Amino acid sequence: MNSIFKRRSYRKFLDKEVSMAKIEMLLKAGMQAPSACDGRPWEFYVITNKDKLLELASATPYSMCVKNCSVAIVPCYVYNKLKSPNYIICDMSACVENILIEAEEIGLGAVWIGGAPVRERIDSMRNILSLDKDIVPFCIIPVGYPVNRKDIEDRYDSSLVHFIK
Ligand SMILES: Cc1cc2nc3c(=O)[nH]c(=O)nc-3n(C[C@H](O)[C@H](O)[C@H](O)COP(=O)(O)O)c2cc1C
Repeated sequence: MNSIFKRRSYRKFLDKEVSMAKIEMLLKAGMQAPSACDGRPWEFYVITNKDKLLELASATPYSMCVKNCSVAIVPCYVYNKLKSPNYIICDMSACVENILIEAEEIGLGAVWIGGAPVRERIDSMRNILSLDKDIVPFCIIPVGYPVNRKDIEDRYDSSLVHFIK
């Protein structure tokens, strides 16, 4: 629970490898997410190849920080296999958020680099990873040990809450 409040985006990482056990914890957290009709539409590409990470750093206008990490997770879905296509963005977002919170929980840092639904960014990620055209890469999550931990920000704003009694 605390990790929800501590989680921040990290884009600079120490030159320290992330163990396979920790990567698996992140993937487990992603797969634990809720999804429409329990469709669990996700698949995950885990990239540790330095050249591919460098290429992914230019996949979108805002992905340069991928060059700083030693591992990146790219959650994907296969459009033709979806049970609930209308909810795919919601399902994938729940999955990504779980991964980000778990990263905080196990002493790592990460950031959500937006891809879908922007067509050029999807195409760019797909080309770099040489994925089949029916596979849709959703985003990039660079992961690592943050260089500097950020402060907790209290974002609660009671003016945004409306009670209907
Ligand atoms: C859908 C989405 C797309 C995002 N895309 C990017 C991105 O392309 N590059 C980036 O550096 N951060 C990206 N972020 C991270 C946000 O900038 C970050 O979450 C926000 O500034 C709040 O900071 P915090 O995560 O530290 O709380 C994205 C976040 C979301 C939810």
